[in-house]
Amino acid sequence: MPKVKILSESLINKIAAGEVVERPASVVKELVENAIDAQADQIFVTIKNGGKDSISVLDNGCGMNAEDAKLAIERHATSKISTHEDLDCINTMGFRGEALAAISAVSRFELTTCCDEKEGGFQLRIAGGKLIHQAKVGFPVGTRFTIENLFFNTPARQKFMKSASTEYNHVYDLVIRLALGHPNIQFRLTHNKTMVLNIPKGQDFRQRVEHCFGNEIAGDLIECEHKESYLSFTGLISPPSKSRASKRWQHTFVNERYVKCNTINHGIYEAYKTLLMKNMHPMFFMNVTLMPQELDVNVHPAKTEIRVKNPTLIHTILSDQLSRLLRAGDRKQFFQPGKVSGSPKQAERKLEGAAPVNRGSVTASVPSSKPVVPLFENVNEQMGFVPPIAQSQFPQKNKKKFSPPEMVAPLPREQAVENPFSFAKREDVFGDDKETSHFEQAYSPYQVIGQLQKKYILAQGEESLILVDQHAAHERIRFEEIRKEFYSQSMATLPLMIPIMLELPPQDGLLLEQHQDSWEKLGFTIDHFGGNDYSIKEVPAILKDADISQVIRQVLDEMAQFGKSGKLEIFYNEVFERMACHSAIRAAQILSIKEMQSLLNQLAGLDLDLYCPHGRPVLIEISVNELDKRFRRIL
Ligand SMILES: Nc1ncnc2c1ncn2[C@@H]1O[C@H](COP(=O)(O)OP(=O)(O)O)[C@@H](O)[C@H]1O
Ligand SMILES: [Mg+2]
Repeated sequence: MPKVKILSESLINKIAAGEVVERPASVVKELVENAIDAQADQIFVTIKNGGKDSISVLDNGCGMNAEDAKLAIERHATSKISTHEDLDCINTMGFRGEALAAISAVSRFELTTCCDEKEGGFQLRIAGGKLIHQAKVGFPVGTRFTIENLFFNTPARQKFMKSASTEYNHVYDLVIRLALGHPNIQFRLTHNKTMVLNIPKGQDFRQRVEHCFGNEIAGDLIECEHKESYLSFTGLISPPSKSRASKRWQHTFVNERYVKCNTINHGIYEAYKTLLMKNMHPMFFMNVTLMPQELDVNVHPAKTEIRVKNPTLIHTILSDQLSRLLRAGDRKQFFQPGKVSGSPKQAERKLEGAAPVNRGSVTASVPSSKPVVPLFENVNEQMGFVPPIAQSQFPQKNKKKFSPPEMVAPLPREQAVENPFSFAKREDVFGDDKETSHFEQAYSPYQVIGQLQKKYILAQGEESLILVDQHAAHERIRFEEIRKEFYSQSMATLPLMIPIMLELPPQDGLLLEQHQDSWEKLGFTIDHFGGNDYSIKEVPAILKDADISQVIRQVLDEMAQFGKSGKLEIFYNEVFERMACHSAIRAAQILSIKEMQSLLNQLAGLDLDLYCPHGRPVLIEISVNELDKRFRRIL
């Protein structure tokens, strides 16, 4: 690596200013990016308590001599750029020369490095920005940074750090992102002495995605590739049928850097136009290569935002190429069946350096009825994830068991996957005839006239015509039922004689285990089965006809969001919405007059704003007065 120099004043002024050290994950990001720039092919990250207590990053890169090491910790000291022209053509992860200075100013910092074994290594220690020790040491070629007590001298910033488990999740996600962008490097992450990630070098991109997200995600993805002088890309995208309810599974890399780029995102979404259901999102893992002059990473100090010189062209290339791939015609050109159906897992095991991964929180690999031990003690408290009612008030025994024989139905995984939208059976929605007639006897403010287009109920009120969206109405009713059951601790559950097996990405497995008690309260009994597999033994009775795997995935997406927002009430409401949607009757279902009347009566009993939980109106009312005016009966 070229010599470290202090940047000129005029160049410093051109660099996006700002603080980069916000939390443990940002320290890890800066140090790992330095290791990547130093050409390391092994990077080991070790953290304690989510990185709040200590962070160490060890690499086998080029290392530094004593002179460079002493300069590197100064502000604006870098070996990566030196002229204004360099700033327009960045091909390293770093270039600002600020990270080491910023980190060492707010921690107890140790740097040990060696660039030539004959010369020997060098070590320095800094506490809160002051050099307290330097010495020659024995050390192999490479560099190790150790950061302890982050923000010990800036209590205001220390307060902004979240619980150890939240900080750990951020570091974990970050290492995954860095590993995806650099398949040639081996990454290890060790947390509290447990190796949680060990990603071998030399994987291809699909193998890496599979390693990081599991086959449940990777198995669904199709490969795409395009080369032209201006832009080339390779990646993995989901077919429209495998879309997800959140944007969690979208990763974009430009020139190996993980970025957020609206142009690229829009281009990809444009390709899916008309193929996606409302509120569903594609999964994509996209590597875009642009000439360094074509993009500007000097937008924000964290360098995840980029500006591109020709957004229209990038947008057009991506949307054209991907939409052709998605519309069956050109599929063969991109789709490589061998790779898709192969088992990268097996290949991966043979690779050197690949060791089985222990996520720390995983219990025995046999199904167990005991709750899974969380990764951290009191993890839910640390995450602010404290239920409104103490756990002891939710004894399992109090749950209503709801298991007439015909309802103990196995829900094999394949079936669930093939039929992503199964909805409630009509008897369960409307009750039997006897029940319906009971409803008829009850006072009803609305009288059904008929059904429009198999989705709207027409009815008359005293002075009005009403139109009701049958799915939205039933969803609203279900939502209130679920909410009432949940808070009155009477969530009826349905034990499954044949458990549903579910494979989850490791990130979701971790979430599931961290929030085990919430799952229990919601009526799910889920055990870790080994590896990325989970067995679902009991589900809320209201979901007996729903696609359970789909509901669980959607709830996990909500949980991932929750980890960031921290509002428990909002989180549970989101879950109830999902459950309500999956258990409600759908549009395009013919209903009898009795059934429609029953639905309206139940709706009338709710005494609520008539909006479905997603905020769409359930009912539109047109007064007779309004009709009279429109027919010019009155003026
Ligand atoms: N792991 C490492 N191996 C070799 N050199 C390193 C390493 N980390 C940092 N350096 C050197 O220290 C300099 C300063 O690092 P940093 O403050 O992160 O700024 P930047 O990465 O923007 O140049 C780098 O330019 C590089 O020369
Ligand atoms: Mg750097």
